[in-house]
Amino acid sequence: MTPLLSDRVRESAAFLQERGVGQPVAAVLLGSGLSGAIGLDDGLSIPYAEIPGFPDGNVAGHDHRLEFGQVKGRAVLVLRGRVHYYEGASLAEVTFPIRVIRSLEPRWMAILNAAGGINPDYGVGDIVFLSDHINWMGDNALVGPNDDSLGPRFPDMSNAYDAELRRRAESVAEDASIRTHRGVYAAVAGPTYETPAEIRMLRLAGADLVGMSTVPEVIVAVHGGSKVLGMSVVTDLAVTEELEPLSHGMVLGAAEKAAPRAGAILEGLVEGEEE
Ligand code: HPA
Repeated sequence: MTPLLSDRVRESAAFLQERGVGQPVAAVLLGSGLSGAIGLDDGLSIPYAEIPGFPDGNVAGHDHRLEFGQVKGRAVLVLRGRVHYYEGASLAEVTFPIRVIRSLEPRWMAILNAAGGINPDYGVGDIVFLSDHINWMGDNALVGPNDDSLGPRFPDMSNAYDAELRRRAESVAEDASIRTHRGVYAAVAGPTYETPAEIRMLRLAGADLVGMSTVPEVIVAVHGGSKVLGMSVVTDLAVTEELEPLSHGMVLGAAEKAAPRAGAILEGLVEGEEE
């Protein structure tokens, strides 16, 4: 008999605990080019390849390490790099680390990504807090048997992104004079970037941003009852009239430039938590 998902989550969490990972105040998933956003003091670092059940992808610009350490004296867990759907992993595999992190009971999770800005008010390098999402991947991380001990069969998504956490993040950004927006993120499967017609369609559908990640992880985090902050860095303008040929290198470069500002917001949020 195949083991229940919750058993595999427990096995993976037990492995991490044996290696010294404790309960974090916050957990942060860093995406493409954002690896440098946050550094940990007194940290331990474990490659995904060593953690039971974790997928191990291989895209340039993505580290694949779980780290646990201190930020401003608070315990923080960082997933440095994600595996994407377009690499061929199932969405259940892509989101398994989120299940494991959830079981360590952080107060909240921040899920970051690099995204194309569809909203014409956005500029490259801007930070956008997600208010909602559109799952345009053609798949859902919760397809398949539901393990009721992890969450309900039909989870509510009416408040996927925690409003209070977002307000706190906005206030940290404002205090640091960092320009931010609120927006709706549309997730596509990739790996192709959008055609002009696809961008027009996404804009009409109400999307402010487009990317190839985040939504599966958010769905699984919310399924498990986590408070989620979604945060995008705009790496290119997916605006039809100005669409220029886009490369992964351009996306990474823009994300790397914005990473310190994303990191400052995360650090400010963590600092606001009681120890
Ligand atoms: N489209 C899809 N994914 C992306 C983009 C984009 O323009 N930029 C960064 N990730």
